[in-house]
Amino acid sequence: MLRLGCDYNYEQWSPEVWAEDMALMRRAGVDLVAINVFGWAELEARPGEYDFTALDHIVDLLHGAGIKLNLGTGTASAPPWLTRRHPEVLPVAADGTTRFPGGRQAWCPSSPVFREHALRLVEQVARRYGDHPALDLWHVSNELGCHNALCYCDGSAAAFRGWLEQRYGDVEALNKAWGTAFWSQRYAAFDEVQPPRLALSARNPAQLVDFQRFSSDALLDHYRAEAEVIRRHSTRKITTNLMVTAHIRNQNYWSWAADLDVIANDHYRDHRLADPAAELSFAADLTRGLAGGRPWMLMETAAGAVNWQPYNLAREPGELLRDALIHVARGADAICFFQWRASAQGAEKFHSAIVPHAGVDTAAWREVLELSATLRKLAPVEGTRVEAEVALVFSWESWWATDTEARPSQDLRYLDQVHAAYGALRELGLTTDIVAPGSDLSRYRAVLVPCLHMVSDREAAAVADYVEGGGRAVITFYSGVVDPDDRVRLGGYPGAFRELLGVVSEEFAPLRPGQEVVLSDGGRATLWTERLRLTTARTELAYEDGRPAVTSNRFGAGQAWYVSTALDLAGVLRRAVGAPATRPDTEVVRRGDFVFVVNHGTKDIDHPVEGHELITGQAVTGAVTVPGGAVRVVREEA
Ligand code: GLA
Repeated sequence: MLRLGCDYNYEQWSPEVWAEDMALMRRAGVDLVAINVFGWAELEARPGEYDFTALDHIVDLLHGAGIKLNLGTGTASAPPWLTRRHPEVLPVAADGTTRFPGGRQAWCPSSPVFREHALRLVEQVARRYGDHPALDLWHVSNELGCHNALCYCDGSAAAFRGWLEQRYGDVEALNKAWGTAFWSQRYAAFDEVQPPRLALSARNPAQLVDFQRFSSDALLDHYRAEAEVIRRHSTRKITTNLMVTAHIRNQNYWSWAADLDVIANDHYRDHRLADPAAELSFAADLTRGLAGGRPWMLMETAAGAVNWQPYNLAREPGELLRDALIHVARGADAICFFQWRASAQGAEKFHSAIVPHAGVDTAAWREVLELSATLRKLAPVEGTRVEAEVALVFSWESWWATDTEARPSQDLRYLDQVHAAYGALRELGLTTDIVAPGSDLSRYRAVLVPCLHMVSDREAAAVADYVEGGGRAVITFYSGVVDPDDRVRLGGYPGAFRELLGVVSEEFAPLRPGQEVVLSDGGRATLWTERLRLTTARTELAYEDGRPAVTSNRFGAGQAWYVSTALDLAGVLRRAVGAPATRPDTEVVRRGDFVFVVNHGTKDIDHPVEGHELITGQAVTGAVTVPGGAVRVVREEA
């Protein structure tokens, strides 16, 4: 069974509405409901005075309706009394100014006072509901680090110093790692070290990366602390909703994944991007990567528009179903929405919901019913695994190290490069696993390594070993340049990959905005060029002056390509790794025995496949016809 779920902020509604909601949830086929995500101020209106009357009632109602609980610990946002009594829990921005209550998540991840109060609430909630028959899943806090990922208060500074002592042991090792011989930054003792608060000039880039690492670990530590309390009272699965999206980059989720019993992601179409549909597929594939290939949950998405982008576009007819099924195609076993009923008040009152302000005589509601019916038809897909032929290596550390201050071009952004690489693979119809640096790559037909700027020797060796054993790798510019201390690998770029690629890049030569260079095949390139010298590689594409732009190198039994500029990567990939003939607008993903065919265009398409189509219930011989904007799911029969 594929689940259909939602957040239910029952605190915002009266008991009459609760009763109506239970009936509507049953009509909509909702079977998993997240409650108590922002419940703290309701449950503990005054310090130590707990009142579970309303939550008990909602739990009973949901249980009575046969709906399972995705139970929030309630700690996402502190009640006003906590910050009034203990203003020291408030987070501080990089410029030293405090962020006040009045919004949400106004707490410092390293605050022992916040932690103590939050765990006290978790203890109460876990003890009360830990073995409730309706309880399916624990939902720790909410989107940890959405707003408060980086705190620069004195408490965070002390915690950062503790983290650094653990990592480096002695201050000389820290000096070496951070290159503090530069600009008179040498530390004599750990207590001189500060978080990288705003400075007059560029800050120490190694310190910035370590602060990112520390901050990610601080929130993971918070998750672990809540999970530990829960485990004392409950054997149910525990998770938190991750934010694998285009605009959140502060958590290294590779190091979080093992702590979550099930991987859950929140994803919203981002209309600030050039290609929101491609990013949706990318995020789904990265979420599956975090789940180690196992099925995962879409914990939040929107039935219609969100409220936090500059222009919050309504969904086109059919888009909701299509997007949801793309998540399913790429490994989701649950589709959940933020939120059940659109708020009448508060900062999210213009965020869409399953039940819109206009009520249920609406197209939006009917689309959710259609999705619900479709998920039921797709029940056999549950638990199956996506089959990918290529891998893309993704690194939060490279994201941090690339998008830092004082870089060769301010237009060089890690995620843009990753999206471009992923977009090219998607254009070629190649299903992609997104993997952590250092992963075993041997099962893939090809591997793409975009902008892997910060890489350890071990992580670089994983790519070289793969190629040596017969693999094909395509590595793009700015990769391999620094080690995990953000220290440049001397002797020429791309540092860690120089030998594998058989090139030495003597100099970066970024381009001005709008500037283009012409390549030897007539194609255009932008953003970035390099002054490359070949050692063992050959030129595949040259710049206008004849210098190499794209190279290939035999290495062991395989081949490694280097792409030193921003160009039509699909063209390079087609040559480097080969690709099946694909049609624009068609997305095809195989999950277990099921072939998902998504038609992003407006005209019918026929996709060759044999079997049984689950949505229409029809037998398919030769090819399945997919109407414009629709998805078809064919169970292949041999
Ligand atoms: C996040 C949060 C929700 C809500 C939505 C709005 O996903 O977890 O509480 O704010 O964003 O899109």
